[in-house]
Amino acid sequence: MTSRSFAFVAGLTPALVVGWLGFPRLLYKRVEQPLSFSHKVHTGEKGGMACADCHALGPDGRFTGIPRLEKCAGCHAQPIGTTADEKRFVDDYLNKGQEVPWLVYSRQPDNVHFPHAVHIGKKVPCERCHGPHGTTDTLRAWQVNRISGYSRDIWGPRITRAFRRPWEGMKMNDCIRCHAERGQSSSCLACHK
Ligand code: HEC
Ligand code: HEC
Ligand code: HEC
Ligand code: HEC
Ligand code: HEC
Repeated sequence: MTSRSFAFVAGLTPALVVGWLGFPRLLYKRVEQPLSFSHKVHTGEKGGMACADCHALGPDGRFTGIPRLEKCAGCHAQPIGTTADEKRFVDDYLNKGQEVPWLVYSRQPDNVHFPHAVHIGKKVPCERCHGPHGTTDTLRAWQVNRISGYSRDIWGPRITRAFRRPWEGMKMNDCIRCHAERGQSSSCLACHK
């Protein structure tokens, strides 16, 4: 290697490393959740609740998503513990009848139709698509792609998508791959309405 090309490579390498590490920060904006929420407190030994106690199908057969305050009021009408998060939840939201504006990590674009009911009915476990979220103790920041406006979870945590675990990313091909494995048709209109 000539000294000039060595200098070029020596200069380029750190530039690439900085660019590679800095790119996600430029591409994604971080937004904190309005309130901390510990799934672990509720689904672990202390709370002993099942997922379906808060996330179930409604009377119309549709998945109800993130629970509304009515699911919380029975236990939190009076603060149970002494944590600041619980106090804030009770004072700022529950007692004011103000729903918590949770940010949905897995939110798909509006043109995608995703029915939970069929997936849960076919015994695809929550963890296959959401990882360990149901047992976590804190909420990570929600990250939004500044260009597309999509949640970062659609792409997944690593820019390269290498060595992904099954729930890390839910791009169109991730949906289609599982559908193919399970002999499910992949007509455009099934997922795009
Ligand atoms: C006490 C009620 C409660 C119980 C029980 C509960 N959750 Fe939740 N869940 C919530 C609330 C509140 C949120 C909104 C805050 C958040 O994102 O964690 C949520 C959000 C979620 C999300 C976030 C979806 C997204 O993309 O943002 C997933 C996934 C989830 N819950 C899975 C589970 C699983 C799996 C279980 C059972 C192991 C479970 N939950 C039990 C209340 C509950
Ligand atoms: C079956 C009873 C029960 C229900 C229903 C319930 N909680 Fe709780 N919650 C608890 C218990 C027990 C604790 C732990 C209190 C302590 O000892 O600090 C707790 C703690 C909390 C805390 C403070 C700890 C943390 O960061 O999570 C928040 C915030 C909270 N709950 C929010 C909610 C919300 C929102 C809902 C409704 C979606 C809900 N809870 C429904 C029993 C319940
Ligand atoms: C086949 C993959 C898959 C499975 C299995 C699955 N989910 Fe989801 N979940 C998703 C996708 C995709 C979204 C985003 C849907 C959208 O934006 O329309 C989502 C969204 C959610 C949300 C946020 C809904 C909202 O908009 O308020 C919650 C809460 C949730 N899932 C909980 C669960 C729970 C609990 C289970 C298990 C009972 C489960 N999910 C099983 C893929 C899945
Ligand atoms: C881990 C496997 C898995 C993943 C990931 C998955 N699905 Fe599915 N999906 C299924 C299975 C299994 C069925 C068939 C359920 C049945 O037989 O009723 C299904 C059925 C459907 C249906 C109903 C099809 C019809 O013809 O009515 C839609 C719509 C759908 N999925 C959308 C999605 C979307 C959108 C995604 C990605 C965001 C996704 N699915 C990811 C397993 C999966
Ligand atoms: C199994 C579900 C599924 C099927 C089948 C499917 N799509 Fe998608 N598609 C998605 C999801 C989820 C997204 C959003 C995530 C992403 O951008 O990858 C998407 C995104 C797209 C986008 C990009 C839109 C944007 O805003 O970035 C186009 C274009 C598209 N699909 C076209 C098609 C066409 C054409 C077909 C039929 C050949 C098809 N899709 C079949 C799930 C599906």
